[in-house]
Amino acid sequence: MVSKILFIGATGMLGKPVIKQLVQAGFQVTAMVRSLEEAKNVLPKEVQLVQGDLQDKQSIAQALDNQEVVYLNLSIKQTEKRNAFHTETDGLRNLLEVLKTKPVQRLAYLSSVVQRYQGTNGFHWWVFEVKQQAIQLIKQAGISYTIFYPSNFMESLSSLYKQGNRLLLAGKAKEKMYFIAGEDYGRQVAESFRILPTENKEYDIQGLEAFTADEAVTLFQQHYKHTKLTISRAPLGIIKFAGNFSTKMNYAAHIIEALNNYHEPFTSQTTWNELGKPKITLTQFVGNQ
Ligand SMILES: NC(=O)c1ccc[n+]([C@@H]2O[C@H](COP(=O)([O-])OP(=O)(O)OC[C@H]3O[C@@H](n4cnc5c(N)ncnc54)[C@H](OP(=O)(O)O)[C@@H]3O)[C@@H](O)[C@H]2O)c1
Repeated sequence: MVSKILFIGATGMLGKPVIKQLVQAGFQVTAMVRSLEEAKNVLPKEVQLVQGDLQDKQSIAQALDNQEVVYLNLSIKQTEKRNAFHTETDGLRNLLEVLKTKPVQRLAYLSSVVQRYQGTNGFHWWVFEVKQQAIQLIKQAGISYTIFYPSNFMESLSSLYKQGNRLLLAGKAKEKMYFIAGEDYGRQVAESFRILPTENKEYDIQGLEAFTADEAVTLFQQHYKHTKLTISRAPLGIIKFAGNFSTKMNYAAHIIEALNNYHEPFTSQTTWNELGKPKITLTQFVGNQ
């Protein structure tokens, strides 16, 4: 079992619940963060902080001192332009270069299941291309890897679908998603580092129950305790049209189209056998918000 983990992207929506579980499982976790001040306010006190940026190889090299595993929680921001620096490819290339002289035992990366929608129904999106490039870069790096492919996180209901007192839906969701809580996923990540096989690993990550976006949002509305929420529905065409003028709307139109149409079978039995079964239902998650 390894004990030292360098976590990159800890301050992210899905970084926070995972790093909490790694700390609880007893790992010595160092977070490489861009702002020490901001990180101090949101990360557990047990986490050692080191200032660094994936755009800066020297800072990556410093952060890698004495580390055994690197865990990546990176993303493409909704406002990120196609020709910008992408942490999941450009940042990853910087990291892989530094790892040649400062090797670790394993590289773990949070991907997503919905990027598999690329190429279905004529759908092609540069963001999924970046995500697929990241997978290839990791697989070709010659370092043992673990790649996680999660379904939609319950956290996205409270942070992305919920905007103020409204829950936003767009288009018609045809397919169901196995929503997973960040806490359950974090426990599985911790277990993956505890058992640490020698071979490369790829895990699909899914929760206990599957819902369409409409069903999940309705359940969220019913069980949310703090205030009355209303559900707003927009035709996807309007968001697509707005996407001609706004990078953020363009991102929204693409991700919604993919999530509404991606057929997600249940594929996580092996993950549950090896890393443990999730425990948190969507109703419980909403009740704890
Ligand atoms: N939402 C879902 O339901 C879902 C489902 C499946 C998969 N995923 C995947 O989960 C991943 C993570 O999502 P998230 O919501 O946690 O992302 P996020 O909130 O945007 O977090 C990204 C993290 O990357 C850090 N970062 C950005 N630029 C950096 C740089 N140059 N150097 C070092 N660190 C940098 C950010 O730090 P700062 O605090 O400094 O900005 C932040 O901690 C995404 O790739 C997404 O596709 C999401």
